[in-house]
Amino acid sequence: MKRGIVPGTFDPLTSGHLDIIERAAGLLDEIVVGVALSADKGGGPLFSEEERVRFIEAATSHLSNVSVRAFDTLLVDFADEVDASVIIKGLRAMTDFEREFQMAALNWRLDSKIETMFIMAIPEYMFLSSSAVKEIARHGGSVRGLVPEVVVEALSRKLS
Ligand code: PNS
Repeated sequence: MKRGIVPGTFDPLTSGHLDIIERAAGLLDEIVVGVALSADKGGGPLFSEEERVRFIEAATSHLSNVSVRAFDTLLVDFADEVDASVIIKGLRAMTDFEREFQMAALNWRLDSKIETMFIMAIPEYMFLSSSAVKEIARHGGSVRGLVPEVVVEALSRKLS
């Protein structure tokens, strides 16, 4: 039984994240989506931990082998806690490489039993990010298709 983690800040979940979760769920027996409470990024998240978890639960309700958990520890400790042996990350453009390789190397240094696997974003989602989605929504642009429907509604409620 292979269990993997798809970790992230998911502020909010995008269609690109969802695509990676769906493809990871097809590769491994079980996927735990790990929602990081306090990612090391400037400013606080737009959506609370509960909201971010709820969006992912709603958008992945068709996937019986996917569950969602919030975490506020080292990723390798969270992996240990949920008994996962693989970390799955999505890779978009070249700009992701340096940060992702650094995290993978440090996670390997912290716990070499846990493998990091990368899944390439499909071309449609290569330049999609949560921050771009928030910027478009803040300026009144349409984010339909870039995020699951549950997030489209939440963004318009939050930013109106
Ligand atoms: O969606 P993001 O912001 O790219 O996700 C980053 C995340 C949450 C995967 C990363 O910040 C993380 O793993 N945080 C947990 C703390 C940790 O283990 N840090 C050391 C990894 S180098």
